[in-house]
Amino acid sequence: MLTCGIKRRAMTRLPFTKFLINVSNANHTCSQSSPLPAKSFCFFRNVSSLPAGFWGSRSSSATRDSFWRFGEVRGMASMVVSSLQNLQNPDSLSYLTQKEAAEIDEILMGPLGFSVDQLMELAGLSVATSIAEVYKSSDYSRVLAICGPGNNGGDGLVAARHLHHFGYKPSVCYPKRTSKALYTGLVTQLESLYIPFLSVDDLPVDLSNDFDILVDAMFGFSFHGTPRPPFDDLIQRLLSLQSHDQTRQRSPVIVSVDIPSGWHVEEGDVSGEGIKPDMLVSLTAPKLCAKKFCGCHHFLGGRFVPPSIADKYKLCLPPYPGTSMCVRIGKLPSIDISSLRENYISPAFLEDHVEPDPIDQFQKWFGDAVAAGLREPNAMALSTANKDGKLSSRMVLLKGVDKEGFVWYTNYGSRKARELSENPRASLLFYWDGLNRQVRVEGPVQKVSDEESENYFHSRPRGSQIGAIVSKQSTVVPGRHVLHQEYEELEAKFSDGSLIPKPKHWGGYRLKPEVVEFWQGQQSRLHDRLQYSLKEVDGKQIWKIERLAP
Ligand SMILES: Cc1cc2nc3c(=O)[nH]c(=O)nc-3n(C[C@H](O)[C@H](O)[C@H](O)COP(=O)(O)O)c2cc1C
Repeated sequence: MLTCGIKRRAMTRLPFTKFLINVSNANHTCSQSSPLPAKSFCFFRNVSSLPAGFWGSRSSSATRDSFWRFGEVRGMASMVVSSLQNLQNPDSLSYLTQKEAAEIDEILMGPLGFSVDQLMELAGLSVATSIAEVYKSSDYSRVLAICGPGNNGGDGLVAARHLHHFGYKPSVCYPKRTSKALYTGLVTQLESLYIPFLSVDDLPVDLSNDFDILVDAMFGFSFHGTPRPPFDDLIQRLLSLQSHDQTRQRSPVIVSVDIPSGWHVEEGDVSGEGIKPDMLVSLTAPKLCAKKFCGCHHFLGGRFVPPSIADKYKLCLPPYPGTSMCVRIGKLPSIDISSLRENYISPAFLEDHVEPDPIDQFQKWFGDAVAAGLREPNAMALSTANKDGKLSSRMVLLKGVDKEGFVWYTNYGSRKARELSENPRASLLFYWDGLNRQVRVEGPVQKVSDEESENYFHSRPRGSQIGAIVSKQSTVVPGRHVLHQEYEELEAKFSDGSLIPKPKHWGGYRLKPEVVEFWQGQQSRLHDRLQYSLKEVDGKQIWKIERLAP
């Protein structure tokens, strides 16, 4: 049986997320080696059922029962919206002095009842998740965590453990071990995962050939003075990578935990000759030196700040999205669009795998898209043309599909409706990112029966019903207040729960497919394309299946 063609990138996921959908594998102008975030959106599965009638009358209830309710999946959108707000306004953040950072730690571990182990665990987890957001383990697997003797080093040890569980291959350089039980325990945990510990002498002088990510967990916010051996030498090795950077295609990225080692906690890289990390993961709240950070990826971790501390220190910190342990607080680097590309890896899609009827095949793939937790798998681009052949496209939502065709609902006075009245043919396009799949459908279009539109209209939330009355879709409105005012008037009119009549200008369309093409992305652009087209044989319409060149 055909299995889902989930992208390799989608497999490298965080424990909290169902799927990671990204625009990565891209270089950008900030640094040759730093990709775009490995995770842009995340969605959760929630077992429920599709709306009644979605599959048309011929589908079994067993099929319907194994799917999820759209609204619950759609609810995750707010996470993405809140991250967008963070990115838009990074200047409103609070930055801590060294003294404030120390005081906050004391309060957390004093009256607020935290232990150092707990804070270290959450800090290390935040560092690991920040790394996983940006650097895919498939491209950046070899990690060296360089750990100092204090808490910052402990954060690095914890991060190395989580990175191992996320699919990376960490090694640890921990030259000045601390004998306290907390630290010996962390070492034992790493040893039990067979994570190699490398002495400074074991390390290659040039770190660029052996590692993809260097985690700088040497010194944290309590550090002052000048780094002593062997950390001065290790910092030098990180610095020498930066000069390589000019000549090499790719050198390892440096991720600093809370403070770039060797920097002044408040003034930053005072000499201008210190390390220049690609990523900084600030913990609890950014320290003043973070204002001088010029790398591509600034994240905040340490999702444990209680309101009493936020109030006392007037902390303005961004909300964390969903269940994430980290949040981006810097601006996204600019993107070189031409370098955005994916190498699709999917199972082969063969003629003898497919259903003889394209609707059955569509329902199979649609089920895969729902099962993969993709957001709005029923969103489709609808293209229409007017009588002069002028084209237009827009997204609509598929609201039912069976052997009669594909159904969506809209306003019968809209531009698409006008074009369909002049030229009653259309094409539909589904794109299921994360599954490497696209489906194209073409054919004639008719309005659905009044009864069908009526039934669907009354199944919608009352707010959407009122919205459909208010909106004279695709006409010019003087301002949004006009729509809101009319909406409120109607809301008041129907506040008694009485039936909201379907407006005459609202209803459904059905496209009856004549051509359906299933596309599955494959490596080196040798994609699979199977096209179904209707042919007449002995007076009967049959579906012919042909393979098209990619
Ligand atoms: C994901 C998505 C789903 C949409 N679904 C519908 C829909 O089901 N019906 C609809 O009339 N408009 C829908 N819209 C809005 C349309 O894209 C479009 O703006 C509107 O129908 C007016 O199009 P027109 O002026 O070409 O007729 C959707 C938009 C998006 C982004």
